[in-house]
Amino acid sequence: MEAILTRRSIRKYTNQPVPEQVVKELLEAAMSAPSAVNQQPWQFIVINDRKILGEIPKLHPYSLMLRAAPVAILVCGDLQLEKMRGNWVQDCSAATENILVAANAKGLGAVWLGVYPVERRVTGIKKLLDLPENVIPFSIVSIGYPAVKKLPANRYDSSRIHYNRW
Ligand SMILES: Cc1cc2nc3c(=O)[nH]c(=O)nc-3n(C[C@H](O)[C@H](O)[C@H](O)COP(=O)(O)O)c2cc1C
Repeated sequence: MEAILTRRSIRKYTNQPVPEQVVKELLEAAMSAPSAVNQQPWQFIVINDRKILGEIPKLHPYSLMLRAAPVAILVCGDLQLEKMRGNWVQDCSAATENILVAANAKGLGAVWLGVYPVERRVTGIKKLLDLPENVIPFSIVSIGYPAVKKLPANRYDSSRIHYNRW
């Protein structure tokens, strides 16, 4: 509960690099997400090349933090791995959220950058990273050690909860 309730989008990072082992643990969290018929239709690209991180904001206007992020994980849906068509988006969402919560639990700061379904971002990232036709870039998680502190959002709203009927 603590890792979920204190998670916030962190867009400013210190210069401290994120160890490879920690990135691996975030990927382990991602791959432990639930998926439709357990299809696990995801692929991940760890991006730590400064040049590539600097190219992404040119095609994604709300990703400027990547210019200074030590690492990012691109979560992709692989249509060839899909058994239940159309569910890859939900599966990749669950994987993305797991990365965010795990990052917070490990003292990292992270933010979900939406790629799919914005056509320009999808085609731009596909081209930039040489993705095969069947692999669709879904989200980018920008990751680093936080240079800012944010209070928990506390969005609990009892008026949004309905029992048995509307
Ligand atoms: C589907 C999705 C797409 C998002 N895209 C972006 C983005 O492109 N750039 C960004 O800075 N934040 C992005 N965010 C983060 C949201 O702005 C953030 O989660 C929201 O403002 C709530 O703040 P919090 O995460 O600190 O609780 C995205 C979040 C989601 C779920």
